[in-house]
Amino acid sequence: MTTLTALVTGSSRGIGAAIRTALSARGIQVIGHATRAIDADTIGADLTDPTAAGRIWEAALERGHGRIDVLINNAGQFQANPIGLSDIVWLDNWEDALRINLTAAAELSRFAVRHWLEDGRAGRIVHVASRAAYRGDSPDHWHYAAAKAGMIGLHKTIARQYAARGIMSYAICPGFTDTAMAGDYLASRGGPGLLADIPLGRVATPEEIATMAVFCALDAPESMTGAVLDANGASYVR
Ligand SMILES: NC(=O)c1ccc[n+]([C@@H]2O[C@H](COP(=O)([O-])OP(=O)(O)OC[C@H]3O[C@@H](n4cnc5c(N)ncnc54)[C@H](OP(=O)(O)O)[C@@H]3O)[C@@H](O)[C@H]2O)c1
Repeated sequence: MTTLTALVTGSSRGIGAAIRTALSARGIQVIGHATRAIDADTIGADLTDPTAAGRIWEAALERGHGRIDVLINNAGQFQANPIGLSDIVWLDNWEDALRINLTAAAELSRFAVRHWLEDGRAGRIVHVASRAAYRGDSPDHWHYAAAKAGMIGLHKTIARQYAARGIMSYAICPGFTDTAMAGDYLASRGGPGLLADIPLGRVATPEEIATMAVFCALDAPESMTGAVLDANGASYVR
């Protein structure tokens, strides 16, 4: 049986690192990515650079010997953009956030879909979005919520358009997850008091989100394509 190859963006830490570990444990060849090439299995490219997605895809194809079976759009950035900043700084922050959290994922998805269509092979995309896509976010994070909502629109469109060609798309919306990203947010929003808003009484672990990502990448029924899975301790029940 051919070993499947997965490209996981933002695999250096947090949720991406957990996904990488969990996929490797299932025997998948994982091609990682981060801003810098921290090891031989990680492609370095800063997603604020408009050429990054193309370079990542080409490097991943080379490492995968011309074949990628799974794309996991996980890389993300969560930085405050208060409305009181100067117009140009606010706009720069907005555009960086959209590029990292949405545009790069769209570009990589496009490369993946074209790759699978050209080869007539099945493929899967897993998008790591956010609870913010549905619930909105803090007053300093319009850009983040908008990007993640855009990612859900992208995901649903891919699922509907290409299911008949064997291309499946799944999305995961984590709430707070115990990574550097959540730590910054919790600290900025009053710390543990925020946990009172989570009926489960704790934030998610990266391993929990990785379990969901691996399920979507390898095990989820094809009929589930287009689905959005929540993981937020019932803090936002839809
Ligand atoms: N943690 C949460 O509470 C939470 C909640 C909802 C959704 N999410 C989503 O889950 C995903 C993973 O989050 P996380 O908490 O694991 O984040 P994290 O610990 O902050 O890690 C972010 C990852 O994305 C990469 N990345 C960030 N900016 C980049 C850039 N400009 N270019 C290239 N790579 C970049 C980082 O690479 P470097 O190490 O090189 O910086 C790192 O691998 C994100 O899409 C996030 O929006 C997280």
